[in-house]
Amino acid sequence: MGFIFNTLYQLDPKIAVLVGFLFGLTLTASEVVPENLPRRQWRVLAAGLTCCTVLALYAASSLQDLPLLRRHRDEEDEPLSVLLWWEPFGSSRPLGDCRARFNISGCSLSANRSRQQEAHAVLFHHRDLILHGPEHLPWVRPPAQRWVWMNFESPSHSPGLHSLAGIFNWTMSYRVDSDVFVPYGYLRARRTPAHLSLPAKTKLVAWVISNWNEEHARVRYFHQLKKYLPIDVYGAQGLELKDDSVVKTISEYKFYLAFENSQHPDYITEKLWRNAFKSRTVPIVLGPPRSNYELFVPANSFIHVDDFASPAHLAIYLKFLDKNKNRYRRYFAWRKRYDVQVTSFWDEHCCRVCEAIRTAGHQRKTVQNLAHWFES
Ligand SMILES: *[C@@H]1O[C@H](CO)[C@@H](O)[C@H](O)[C@H]1NC(C)=O
Ligand SMILES: *[C@@H]1O[C@H](CO)[C@@H](O)[C@H](O)[C@H]1NC(C)=O
Ligand SMILES: *[C@@H]1O[C@H](CO)[C@@H](O)[C@H](O)[C@H]1NC(C)=O
Repeated sequence: MGFIFNTLYQLDPKIAVLVGFLFGLTLTASEVVPENLPRRQWRVLAAGLTCCTVLALYAASSLQDLPLLRRHRDEEDEPLSVLLWWEPFGSSRPLGDCRARFNISGCSLSANRSRQQEAHAVLFHHRDLILHGPEHLPWVRPPAQRWVWMNFESPSHSPGLHSLAGIFNWTMSYRVDSDVFVPYGYLRARRTPAHLSLPAKTKLVAWVISNWNEEHARVRYFHQLKKYLPIDVYGAQGLELKDDSVVKTISEYKFYLAFENSQHPDYITEKLWRNAFKSRTVPIVLGPPRSNYELFVPANSFIHVDDFASPAHLAIYLKFLDKNKNRYRRYFAWRKRYDVQVTSFWDEHCCRVCEAIRTAGHQRKTVQNLAHWFES
């Protein structure tokens, strides 16, 4: 009997308790004759039933306390709550539903600070943290609550890192080795191959830039390249976007300068994912080395400035592709197999933290040397 009960319990504790209860009931009932019951046997029956009920209740309550069941219950049923301490850049867009948007269930997102005590994780956006100062972090800190440092700027544009040692439990950034890795975009393998169709391309090279700085490698490269090729520049100091839409504007071009503002490992931004890939154009990238890009996207999906000895050589190659439709189309072959996903700021980030908590278990961690890691 013990063995059967044990096996049943492994399958489902509730069934085990029920079967145990019915077994006891049957035993008791078989002791008594249904018709013509003497007073003594009524008492046996009543005592037996009471015993069974008490045992069943006891079993049910003690089973609830077994770690196996408790973990199951906590992690599957109780929604994990994630709190955004500062709404990044002061924007207060609604946070959305992780399940509907990203197929991550059991999450409750909030930017309501009065819910801090119950939060499983609190997210702190670096820019706002530096703006307000670390003295504006919460006063109380439940020991199991995870504090997550969140940053999507590169080290060159992330001041104040050195004051943040030993505060946070997790990092979240575009770096692959973050505790919660959230890139600016990613590819998703398709179930069925897509038909390849390209928007009509009537123009050659485009660039959208808002933060113009003559010191930046990208601006220096641009000055060289434009000696050999016409380049249409959009943004603060340039042309106006068609219908205010980057994607609409860039779609008409064969090439797009996906030049990052600074060069750091894994720092590959929406300039590649949205501006170039969503516009169905060929990115010319300037950022980390080619091998770093190839961790995330196919080798034949982009042109790297490092592939060429000089901007003049790159210009010759672009003019060659402009005349060779088939060679140009090879840069789109991968699109048959993948869809481009652009990460949604900031609800996707909150949902990814929620997902990470669920898989992390109870292991504790503190990020001791944040600056050293992020700047490496
Ligand atoms: C959603 O997630 C579940 C469990 O992780 C998975 O089985 C299912 O295929 C996912 N659905 C979609 C549409 O991706
Ligand atoms: C914030 O949460 C508190 C406590 O749960 C609730 O009473 C309050 O109405 C919430 N505020 C907003 C703006 O939702
Ligand atoms: C988070 O970090 C704090 C500060 O070091 C530490 O006291 C706490 O135990 C950590 N919690 C988790 C869940 O890692």
